[in-house]
Amino acid sequence: MSGFRYRPEILQGIPDHETTYLKQYEHWFILEPEQLKRITDHFVRELEQGLSKEGGNIPMNPTWVMGFPSGYETGRILTLDMGGTNLRVCRVYLSSRKRHFEQIQRTFKLPEEMKTGTGEQLWDFIAGRLELFLEEHNITSEHDGTIPLSFTFSFPVKQKSIRSGILQRWTKNFNVSGVEGHDVVPQLEAAFLRQKLPVRIVALLNDTTGTLIASHYIDPKVKVGSIFSTGCNAAYMEECKLIPKLENAALPDKASVIINTEYGAFDNDRKVLPLNPFDWQIDGESARPGTQIYEKMVSGLYIGEMLRLILVTLHEQGKLFKGLDITRLRHENSLEASFLSVAELDVSEDLGDMREEFTESLSLSPDLNDLKVCRYLIGLVATRAARLYACGIAAICKKKNMKRCHIGVDGSAFNKYSAFKGRAAQGLRDILDWPPDELDWIALNPSEDGSGVGAALAAALIIEGDHKANPL
Ligand code: BGC
Repeated sequence: MSGFRYRPEILQGIPDHETTYLKQYEHWFILEPEQLKRITDHFVRELEQGLSKEGGNIPMNPTWVMGFPSGYETGRILTLDMGGTNLRVCRVYLSSRKRHFEQIQRTFKLPEEMKTGTGEQLWDFIAGRLELFLEEHNITSEHDGTIPLSFTFSFPVKQKSIRSGILQRWTKNFNVSGVEGHDVVPQLEAAFLRQKLPVRIVALLNDTTGTLIASHYIDPKVKVGSIFSTGCNAAYMEECKLIPKLENAALPDKASVIINTEYGAFDNDRKVLPLNPFDWQIDGESARPGTQIYEKMVSGLYIGEMLRLILVTLHEQGKLFKGLDITRLRHENSLEASFLSVAELDVSEDLGDMREEFTESLSLSPDLNDLKVCRYLIGLVATRAARLYACGIAAICKKKNMKRCHIGVDGSAFNKYSAFKGRAAQGLRDILDWPPDELDWIALNPSEDGSGVGAALAAALIIEGDHKANPL
């Protein structure tokens, strides 16, 4: 099968002329090492710009977490993590044994309607779930009459201190009214008051900050915390003297602060990312067109939709699912990232598991050739996501001149999509040109469920007075 560059063996058995149209998709989705390098170099420039006084696409938000935990932090703390899909409440116990903790937790699904309602509805819903958890575990107030809570809020916020955060914009197709431009801490605390919960927010942090703290606590070689899930983002520790926009904050010479990059906004002005017609469509139909362009090409929320748009287009062109009823496939967001990962796990000759997945999720039963083409397209979409993901990580490492380190990665798309890690690692190798016979110099290590302990440690750093933040 000539002319194909990527995994042609999956198309074996299908005559060449029946699949020539796929070359266009290769052109759209295959990223050569040179392209990845160019994107990464532009990424480094945008990270720098975000730290400058003028700013740029990438917010580069100082988090006011100004150190890593020693491993000896102690205490018990309630944590609440509002991600893109779930709400996770934890009670974390940090014991006096080094790097030792225990936690109890409960996850609640965030109903779809909460993502587009009013702020008050969202905060009241969260307060209600928290109340359930407190009752379930009989958690009562501390000696000062309150229950301290560390709140992980996985959206871009501008922070004046670790106890506050003004929402810059919703991402991940959230569109809740009355929150953008406001501090989310008093809004959530007002909901606690309405429900008479004695809960007080002691820290507000991003999921990437929590992941960085939690994974560094377990493995001090971790220098970057990253999320690859519904959204995509990373945080790292920066020297304050290299952050021009903090110039007036009168911080000590040697101070460092964790930067929540919010790099899902990379290249919002579309200078280097190779957007194809499907990318434009996904952006155009999103809740916030023109924002989070990089995230929309990479993260779990969008790769399923990307595949769906491609499959519908090919059906309409008479190339796929001929004579089949694709009604369910026409429903927006009817394919999730998990569909792609399950399909890629099927290595059988008849792609039986993959067919079953099609039947279950879409009431479709494609023939073997169609399944092979779908499998090939899934590989293209997911590989591009993984290789673009590598650009963000490589950019931080290049900017900080970190040649060898570990990256703590959390998020369902990373932990559950088994092919992702290897592809992202290959992307890093292509960008950073490690000697071929050496193991990865920068290793992507899973940091599962780090958000609870990360948030607890951030709070412990403050409560124990180790936190030397000097708010603006
Ligand atoms: C948000 C980030 C978050 C990431 C992963 C993005 O959409 O803007 O704050 O870290 O998703 O959850």
